Amino acid sequence: MIKYLGSKRALVPLIERVVEELPVRSVCDLFAGTTRVGQALRASGLRVVSNDLASYSEAFGHAYIAADERVDRVRIRRLLAQLDALPGRPGYFTRAFCEQARYLRPDNGARVDAIRAEIDALATSPVERGILLTALVEAADRVDSTVGLQMAYLKRWAPRARNRLELREPTPVPGPAGTVLREDANALAPALDVDLAYVDPPYNQHSYFSNYHVWETLVRGDEPETYGIANKRVDCRERKSPWNSRRLAAAALDDLLERIATPWLVVSCNAEGFHAPDAVQERLSRRGHVARLPVDVRRYVGAQIGIHAPSGEKVGRVSHLRTTEYLFVAGPDRRAVERAAGLRAAA
Ligand SMILES: C[S@@+](CC[C@H](N)C(=O)[O-])C[C@H]1O[C@@H](n2cnc3c(N)ncnc32)[C@H](O)[C@@H]1O
Repeated sequence: MIKYLGSKRALVPLIERVVEELPVRSVCDLFAGTTRVGQALRASGLRVVSNDLASYSEAFGHAYIAADERVDRVRIRRLLAQLDALPGRPGYFTRAFCEQARYLRPDNGARVDAIRAEIDALATSPVERGILLTALVEAADRVDSTVGLQMAYLKRWAPRARNRLELREPTPVPGPAGTVLREDANALAPALDVDLAYVDPPYNQHSYFSNYHVWETLVRGDEPETYGIANKRVDCRERKSPWNSRRLAAAALDDLLERIATPWLVVSCNAEGFHAPDAVQERLSRRGHVARLPVDVRRYVGAQIGIHAPSGEKVGRVSHLRTTEYLFVAGPDRRAVERAAGLRAAA
């Protein structure tokens, strides 16, 4: 399982159950991240549009949402085996993320450099390219030396970092082929031609662009200038988003909910984030009937591990290990909303 803060892995069964009770056949996962939610909805038979600003999410979208039975899986496995067998060739990635920073061990970094260059040299369709890039990001994630964020690296190499980076085929997802977009959610919202939007925006001051800058650079292959101990892309300093500002996030959500052109909405909201659950409920009630489902979940991996000084010693106490996520369901039909929320027996 790829490490991604705010991933809705634990909520997927509930989201699936809720959506199943609604009269919908198509959905847009507006902030798709890992694409986990879109994968589950696709597998339950819905047509999925997967959208996220991140380039790595676009690659995951090609691998898990757009790829269908037209993909030649024998060719994919052959290409993956060929890429996996390439000898390491240290380049930008090794220098920036394995020598100046400690994301991967340099021997694995050199193989990433060789594989990434070869992916560009291969003649592939966008979906095939997305599958190969996804395999590479997932392989790097399995041998990285982080606690899940690319902001600082462990002082000593994580035990898994000593393993050989190994490419594996991303598991095909059954269900109708979907589409993949890389657009700003608020700009895309009015043009949505689907029955339901799933809304899971960033919820605190940390931007995904900065937290996952290594994947972004790996997928783009653009070799930017970097800064700081984590060797982030310089454009991390310039790219500011209202979603990461306590002052501006509520207006961004208001604006989004006003623009979304779908009758049905499912919205995730973390109790520890910028969006007060009562305010989200009030905002959604302007669009029809609303139900709110509280879900108790584990907090992010950093909270599970504890607070450490740069020297590695444990310095603080984490106040709590669990948190509440809210799932809101909103739409034009009260009975359907209540059924979806489990407040009324299925029809
Ligand atoms: C809370 S995460 C979503 C996690 C996702 N539901 C999952 O299960 O993996 C928020 C996502 O919003 C994306 N994002 C940030 N700003 C965005 C924007 N303006 N438009 C679209 N996506 C954006 C981030 O790249 C990140 O993947």
